[in-house]
Amino acid sequence: MNSPSAPSLVAAIPQPAMLIDVRDRIIGVNAEARAVLGREVMNQPLITVLRQPALHKAIARCRQSGQREETRIVIQQGTQDHSFTVSCAPLRLNRVDGVLLCLEDLTQLEQAGQMRRDFVANVSHELRTPLTALMGFIETLQGPARNDPKAQERFFSIMQLEAGRMNRLIKDLLSLSQVEGQERIRPDALVDLDTLLSSTIRALAPQADRNATTMRLDVQAHDPTVTADEDQLRQVFVNLIENAIKYGGKDGTVTVTVEGLERDPAIRGPALKISVCDTGPGIDPIHVPRLTERFYRVDSHRAREMGGTGLGLAIVKHIVSRHRGRLRIDSTPGQGSCFTVILPRAA
Ligand SMILES: Nc1ncnc2c1ncn2[C@@H]1O[C@H](COP(=O)(O)OP(=O)(O)OP(=O)(O)O)[C@@H](O)[C@H]1O
Ligand SMILES: [Mg+2]
Repeated sequence: MNSPSAPSLVAAIPQPAMLIDVRDRIIGVNAEARAVLGREVMNQPLITVLRQPALHKAIARCRQSGQREETRIVIQQGTQDHSFTVSCAPLRLNRVDGVLLCLEDLTQLEQAGQMRRDFVANVSHELRTPLTALMGFIETLQGPARNDPKAQERFFSIMQLEAGRMNRLIKDLLSLSQVEGQERIRPDALVDLDTLLSSTIRALAPQADRNATTMRLDVQAHDPTVTADEDQLRQVFVNLIENAIKYGGKDGTVTVTVEGLERDPAIRGPALKISVCDTGPGIDPIHVPRLTERFYRVDSHRAREMGGTGLGLAIVKHIVSRHRGRLRIDSTPGQGSCFTVILPRAA
């Protein structure tokens, strides 16, 4: 059997790859590598394509040792720098002593690492605030307030509040990771939205009463059934209605509407549109795209005072995506906000 040609061998590699000859001229390049480099580089000297001393040193080491060598390089793509690991392997092909260069894009890995670090930093920060308060009160109770029952009572109730905040944060974090873990598993129960929303609203009535909020449910769709995970869907509407009560201000109205859509373009089929609208101060448009990020709060001090962890809408987004639905946020400052969930109708 004949040896493969350099271009066909390099084309068969699924990651960006190039083959260079003894004089470091590119004698094979695949489409993936062309996409990374942004141009045709066949037959060009490698030095004019990638002016990276570390790479040329690795190639020299590889030729000398006859072993595979690795190095890291940065390639500018548009306005962004991408990091790559390049493996240089000696390759003798048709009596030519070449070196095969295979690139692995590390950008996504690095971004995932950064996200993980940010997440841990956020969680630690969120837990540290109530924990610091608790430690301070314990110290006061052991010292200056040791014989002051009035102060003790006050401190205990604040400690209970802070411990409650930590508890809620951990509950939300667990629920978020559970929802993320199930994102690829399709829900399979038939859920009637009229029943689900009525009972959710009933359960939140005490909270609404304390805030003098009026709640309304308006089901316009006929037979509003969806294929869903009932507990998760309930959590979506608890989070949205709770927000509407909390941030909608005193004496407001929260209206939950269920409409049928004959065909939703994104869902590509019949859908149900559930809107949770409040009459509160609304949200400045600059915040809207970021609301579903974990720990994002518009007025973090105020939201934290209200017991918010900033995870509610992140949970909503993941659950809606597991249900192959969409979440839309519309808000006019001064007039209120509408959080709309669009779900495919059960077949
Ligand atoms: N209906 C609303 N009106 C005005 N602002 C809202 C509304 N819903 C959410 N927000 C803003 O979006 C932020 C994020 O909401 P989210 O539900 O994710 O977190 P939270 O309510 O602060 O905490 P949690 O829901 O975890 O207790 C809130 O802090 C608030 O600033
Ligand atoms: Mg919330």
